[in-house]
Amino acid sequence: MQMIKYNYPLKKYNTFGIDIHTRKFVRLDNEQQATELFKEGTFFSDNCLILGGGSNILFSGDYDGTVIQALFRDVKILEISTDSAIITADAGLEWDKLVEWAVKNGLGGLENLSGIPGHTGAAPIQNIGAYGAEVSEMINAVHAISLENGDRRVFSAEECRFGYRDSIFKNEMKGKYLITRVEFRLSRDHHNIKLSYGNLEQEIKGRGQPTLAAVRDAVIKIRNDKLPDPSLTGNAGSFFKNPVLETDQYTKLKKKFSDMPSWELGNGLYKVPAAWLIEKAGWKGRQVGRAAVHHRQALVLVNLGGAKGSEILKLSRMIMDSVEEMSGIRLSREVNII
Ligand code: FAD
Ligand code: EPU
Repeated sequence: MQMIKYNYPLKKYNTFGIDIHTRKFVRLDNEQQATELFKEGTFFSDNCLILGGGSNILFSGDYDGTVIQALFRDVKILEISTDSAIITADAGLEWDKLVEWAVKNGLGGLENLSGIPGHTGAAPIQNIGAYGAEVSEMINAVHAISLENGDRRVFSAEECRFGYRDSIFKNEMKGKYLITRVEFRLSRDHHNIKLSYGNLEQEIKGRGQPTLAAVRDAVIKIRNDKLPDPSLTGNAGSFFKNPVLETDQYTKLKKKFSDMPSWELGNGLYKVPAAWLIEKAGWKGRQVGRAAVHHRQALVLVNLGGAKGSEILKLSRMIMDSVEEMSGIRLSREVNII
């Protein structure tokens, strides 16, 4: 049953644990409710926020509008052949439940993305990625409903214009669609096991054959060792994106910081770890009011308890200014500021 509440508290609905209220909160339990709600055309992007699990959001204050959460959670196999399957998963299904389901059913592709918080409907928004995989590699199509008129639209993977932590839903289509379900193409045979990121291969060695389940377990172990658990310490994962630099800018920076790690992406582009720049600028573990930079992962900002969104935002600005002064690079935020 669709739920509507007014002046609704959102502390439990954002992993930073920011204690704010929304003027109105609507929970949708099926696609039909979404179509009905949006066909009136009363929702516009500037006073309506689609919320998933709230794990990539920072509320800077109370929300003077309507927060809509889609909680339908079905997952189905649409097509199956000897070597692959196309599955569809509803927006409200917890992302990691989907990965667990895929691994249990011998379907490969999502295992490196184990342990990422949030809902399936948000996965295409920033093209979630971790441990050598990006979700765009597995996405077949994204189904959505227009907030302006309730019309349905299917975006092909190409139309989603995926990039590093980027898609059409963060640009031209920002705030215009509710993603209702996502189709994935997964392997059933000849899985492409990816072990090249960081110490993943080493972690898997002690687990026998590199099966889908072993990759999932190893990724979860590595993540648990370095990322703070949001149920204990409020955070939204990486607060900033890793900067991607052109050769000139990269060469200049490498001359200044010869020990700076980097990854060559091809086409004259280099990715530099923002965590390294933040740590180099002296921010790792530092606290400003009730906000802090995590002591094990400098890319993660944390709420030490009772922080306001504005305090976290202020800390993020201080870091951006300081890193820019040190390196000439202006970091961009990954987390969505509301
Ligand atoms: P929300 O935070 O609720 O929303 C994020 C954005 O998507 C908002 O703009 C929202 O309006 C929009 N949105 C959400 N659902 C929909 C929908 N159905 N339709 C339209 N718009 C929608 N991310 C990674 O990529 N890799 C990681 O390794 C990673 N690790 C993390 C670790 C931790 C501890 C935490 C807290 C976060 C991490 N994240 C990571 C970030 C986050 O988990 C992902 O971005 C996730 O996909 C966000 O999902 P969500 O449902 O919580 O989205
Ligand atoms: N590093 C430091 N100091 C630190 C942490 C890291 O200098 O405190 C340096 C090290 O050189 C390390 C490098 O940064 O080798 C990369 O660190 P890590 O492997 O932890 O990855 P990251 O770049 O910090 C990215 C994603 C994560 C994802 C991991 C694993 C972004 C913005 N973040 O983090 O995604 O889980 O790789 O693939 O791309 C998220 O998006 O919220 C997120 C957690």
